[in-house]
Amino acid sequence: MSPSFTRAYPFVMDHGQGCWVTDVDGNRFLDFTAGIAVVTTGHSHPRVVAAIEEQAKKFLHMSGTDFYYQSEIELAERLEAKILPGTPAKVFFTNSGAEAIEGAMKLARYASGRPSYIAFIGAFHGRTFGALSLTASKASQRRRFAPLLSSVFHAPYPSAARGVTTDHTMQHLEELFSTVAPPESVAAVFVEPIQGEGGYLVPPDDFLPRLRELTAKHGILLIADEVQSGMGRTGHLLAVEHWDVEPDVVCLAKGIASGLPLGAFVARAEQMSWPPGSHGSTFGGNPVACAAALVTLDLLEEGLMENAAKVGAQLQDGLREIASTHGEITDVRGLGLMVALELKTPDQAAQLVQSAFERGLLLLTAGTRAVRLCPPLVIDSDEAATGLEIIEAALG
Ligand SMILES: Cc1ncc(COP(=O)(O)O)c(C=O)c1O
Repeated sequence: MSPSFTRAYPFVMDHGQGCWVTDVDGNRFLDFTAGIAVVTTGHSHPRVVAAIEEQAKKFLHMSGTDFYYQSEIELAERLEAKILPGTPAKVFFTNSGAEAIEGAMKLARYASGRPSYIAFIGAFHGRTFGALSLTASKASQRRRFAPLLSSVFHAPYPSAARGVTTDHTMQHLEELFSTVAPPESVAAVFVEPIQGEGGYLVPPDDFLPRLRELTAKHGILLIADEVQSGMGRTGHLLAVEHWDVEPDVVCLAKGIASGLPLGAFVARAEQMSWPPGSHGSTFGGNPVACAAALVTLDLLEEGLMENAAKVGAQLQDGLREIASTHGEITDVRGLGLMVALELKTPDQAAQLVQSAFERGLLLLTAGTRAVRLCPPLVIDSDEAATGLEIIEAALG
């Protein structure tokens, strides 16, 4: 296989249930990664598996680009009602997060007739050429892949942990407008409401409302990349809801179908008015993935979002307590089950992940020196307590 992957430790999955996974040697681990923030409802939730089986017996594929089937239409209707509530909206299904971003980039140009985009330093929007042009998380992700799209500009992402204020970001955006990116040339601003791969950075409370105001003033589309922060993980279906902000377009993937490959971008209906043939996908909106997504939405609405808020608070409280006796932890942050602890050095973060693995807890890093906790949303408070105990022991 390609050596470009970043496997930090040799976990070889055999099977999983809920928050627990078992490797091929029979060792059991508590999973605080959810397969990179994907298995929202836990590993192999019985209701998700039943929906997949039922759909698989009927048909596996037909392609929503040329034909119709019920699970795709039903899911589009559910997302239309939930993602941009009260606003007539349209949905395009993809196979991945990067494809949702690519589609939203194309839509923004098509709808606005403008060429340029703005994104933020630290952002991760995917690895295809368009999405990679927005991505500004790690040099290793961009090195030797240039030339990327030329009309993409970046501003600093505000975060207390990085010493960047909203005022500073706003000034930088105004400077871009008055120098290299006149506002009437900017199709869209792409923003992660909470930066994911960049380190689980939560922006100051005034950032997203001020960004909404600024983009509206200039007729620029505000595109929220909720690929990692969405689908209930932060305690609301979308992270933008924490700040009462309604974007023009929302990109989804990862947690939407509990592990089956599915993404989507949802746009105001007046923006998504491109004609037949202008965009499509053979596999996007696969019927089995849509069936899994419908049950995922049911389970989120039946209590998993509240659970994310509750157990997420427990995890943050527990980490703060651990931090009070471990000087190497410099920050604890997050919302719901999108939680991170930051260490002084990248080596300390890597060491924590390694020694947690040796003690039976799966973790991933984020950014350069943060360790993220993004367990399945079915996690209960005993499992959270077990994870915290292992983290404390692994810190030594
Ligand atoms: C915020 C965000 N956007 C986009 C992507 C890309 O998604 P995918 O890996 O499914 O292409 C990711 C993946 O980590 C992400 O975190």
